[in-house]
Amino acid sequence: QPVRLQDYAPPPHLIDSVELTVELGDDWTKVTAILSGRRNPAAGSGPAPIVLDGQDQQLQAVTLDGRRLAESEYQVGAEKLTLPAVDGPFELMIEGRIRPQDNTALEGLYRSGGLYCTQCEAEGFRRITYYPDRPDVMAVFTVRIEADKERFPVLLANGNCVETGELPFGRHFAVWHDPFRKPAYLFAMVAGDLGCVEDSYVTRSGREVTLRIYVDPGNEGRTGHAMESLKRSMRWDEEVYGFEYDLDVFMIVAVSAFNMGAMENKGLNIFNDKFILADPDTATDGDFQRIEGIVAHEYFHNWTGNRITCRDWFQLSLKEGLTVFRDQEFSADMHDRGVKRVSDVRLLRTVQFPEDAGPTAHPVRPDTYIEINNFYTVTVYEKGSEVVRMIHTLLGPDGFRKGMDLYVERHDGQAVTCDDFVAAMEDATGVDLSRFRLWYSQAGTPTVTARWQHDPATRRLDLTLSQATPSTPGQPTKQPMPIPLRTALIGRNGAPLPLRLDGEPDGGGATERVLVLDEAATTVSFVDVPPGAVPSLLRGFSAPVKLDAAWSEEDLAFLAGADDDPFGRWEALQSLSTRALLAMVGALRAGKPAVLDQRVVEAFRASLADDRLEPAFLSELLALPGESLLGQALDVWHVDEVHAARAEARRVIGETLFDGWSALYERLSAAEPAGGADLSTAAMGRRALANAALAYMVASGREEGIRLAVAQARPDGTMTRVMGALVALNDLERPERDAALAAFHDRWQNDPLVLDKWFALKAGSARTDTLDQVKGLLEHPGFSIRIPNRVRALIGGFTAGNPVRFHAADGSGYDFLAEQVLALDAINPQVAARMTQPLVRWRKFDAGRGKAMTDALRRIIHSPTLSKDVYEIASKALA
Ligand code: ARG
Ligand code: ZN
Repeated sequence: QPVRLQDYAPPPHLIDSVELTVELGDDWTKVTAILSGRRNPAAGSGPAPIVLDGQDQQLQAVTLDGRRLAESEYQVGAEKLTLPAVDGPFELMIEGRIRPQDNTALEGLYRSGGLYCTQCEAEGFRRITYYPDRPDVMAVFTVRIEADKERFPVLLANGNCVETGELPFGRHFAVWHDPFRKPAYLFAMVAGDLGCVEDSYVTRSGREVTLRIYVDPGNEGRTGHAMESLKRSMRWDEEVYGFEYDLDVFMIVAVSAFNMGAMENKGLNIFNDKFILADPDTATDGDFQRIEGIVAHEYFHNWTGNRITCRDWFQLSLKEGLTVFRDQEFSADMHDRGVKRVSDVRLLRTVQFPEDAGPTAHPVRPDTYIEINNFYTVTVYEKGSEVVRMIHTLLGPDGFRKGMDLYVERHDGQAVTCDDFVAAMEDATGVDLSRFRLWYSQAGTPTVTARWQHDPATRRLDLTLSQATPSTPGQPTKQPMPIPLRTALIGRNGAPLPLRLDGEPDGGGATERVLVLDEAATTVSFVDVPPGAVPSLLRGFSAPVKLDAAWSEEDLAFLAGADDDPFGRWEALQSLSTRALLAMVGALRAGKPAVLDQRVVEAFRASLADDRLEPAFLSELLALPGESLLGQALDVWHVDEVHAARAEARRVIGETLFDGWSALYERLSAAEPAGGADLSTAAMGRRALANAALAYMVASGREEGIRLAVAQARPDGTMTRVMGALVALNDLERPERDAALAAFHDRWQNDPLVLDKWFALKAGSARTDTLDQVKGLLEHPGFSIRIPNRVRALIGGFTAGNPVRFHAADGSGYDFLAEQVLALDAINPQVAARMTQPLVRWRKFDAGRGKAMTDALRRIIHSPTLSKDVYEIASKALA
């Protein structure tokens, strides 16, 4: 049943062009495809049967080279259509019909409310028509859409609109032609009654491109930020990579029922509406930044994904890892590089490291899957991006750009592999990346151990580095990989020292080196090192590894104040806090009171007083590691003690530094203009820091904090401030908290995207009645199990966003999740599989919880109608 990379074979037939006619109807939608194809010279010669993929449709007629085939001439299987053997060129006409209105899986063509739209990546096109649905078959598409004119005035597909017209019975049609060859997964079409906002962009070679964003009528006023983000992305890609847009029109459609974030269909991106719609009253600064990043990501796919695509789905990271790297760099250039790096690393550690350490661990380029939709993972995306980033670090910016140029020169218009990408990087620069390729094939997070010794007599500092990667499912032993470690030495006076390696006549004055650990262990020696220097290691998080470095608490406190690398500085305070919090967990386990290490408070005090720091960065610096990061750092994630320790640390930091928080809050609030919102990076940073200060004041337990939060939570404020206040109040057993949430609900209950924030708050509260509240909210008129955003907000807000309540010792959270997964699986297997995730790492918990989690997994797996999506996740979890 699993698909294997090693079984890859080129397609026996290629398709050069597709003419698709889609007649949308209330009962049935009729789909006619005319395919012009030929035998693939790279896949042998002589006649071979034409085998097409197809699912959930009724085949009505097949015509081969003008002759309608008798039913005895072809076989229709559950997922394949096998036609007679063909040698030369052929023309095939397939007629079939589908019911998009019943398609709750939201793959292929589906109808949600009054809107038809598509999601074809990875294997949705086969639900529209029979077709060789694999990315290495690339064809030129022409699409004719017919629909009722009144209800579906807007008809869109990829490329350029070449014809429109009227039809009898109040119907109309539009014909779209996309001149670029593309795989079927990049096909898209939309039909509905949509509002449109139009703008334009002139490329650097002077071509004018029309930009359009389509939304539900009434939402036009919330598209401005997405449009500006798109234009910034287009400019950035020209400046940094020389990539220009290549069609006359670029369209984005925002839809409310969408499984993922967004989709890069050629010329017609389709977005989850929460990643398009924003204004300061309804979207937080975080939402604004995510929208900018995702708009950029999908736009950047036009070159890294569409012009150059993947040979097969094992190569998914070829486009996703590279495009995430590009969107991360774009956001870093638009805002604050250090802050962006910190938040990307936090995501990687919080979500990808656990995946890499659990039963669903897989390499960046997996070698087997049951359901490809399960492989749109943080490993393929975020670790994939880190792998590209390491290449960037090893080659330098100029080398990397040369590699990109060669990659495009060689492979434009092709479907290629991760290996082709690495080969282009090597050939453009002469750097040997043969061992580096292990990063694509080995799963698991390496641990790098760093020990050092300074000899005051010789002024030498010997740094000993070693690496080990744990075994992962199917990969018992690992080889050492090249690990780039950006390294500096910080002198006692707080300044980075010029570095000279032993044997070098002169270090050139550089204060940072990229050391490449490419063996199991090695020692490097720095010379001319004064006493008291502290190594700053893994600067900028230069490799996706766990670092075990021999820093003392004093070293960490020193680096937290002095490291010139923003990531290093943040990391030092995180490490110091983590050690202190883990000690508190240990004390609670031993039945002793949890006391926060004073050095953490002092480090916070010092950072709070450092007015050279940007507010946005300071707000990151002053955030304690989250519960799940702490849980991971323990052999057994003791959810209750972790929650209690973290809450106590926040109380102590809030209380001890109350005056500092209060002064900061006042200063920042005074800088906030009333009414409209300043969306500059600096203003967003100020609001982030004000919210952090407010949350600490509330955590202190003083009435003053609650009073300020209640005032800030009034629903007439801008969303960033309102949400900041509600988050600060959300765990309190106080009537003020309930009143603030109720007022928010009353103000926003008819705005689905804002209501999602309320669902997530209700589901994320540490209050003990939360599960009952969540169960009750399944009946809320604004909730629907058919809309993935609602499911993720309410159910996911509890199961993934509320560890202390989800992991209640009585197993009630697990029972709830099992029930929801089964209900969801009958509707939308892809989302159901995602929702199963919180159960897979059951080995991380105590025996009682572990048993309750595996019981829940067994209940799921014993369902007689289980999808392969959920089966794959649950069976791997239990293996
Ligand atoms: N390619 C899209 C993106 O990352 C994601 C599509 C995910 N689709 C899926 N079926 N899992 O931009
Ligand atoms: Zn992507």
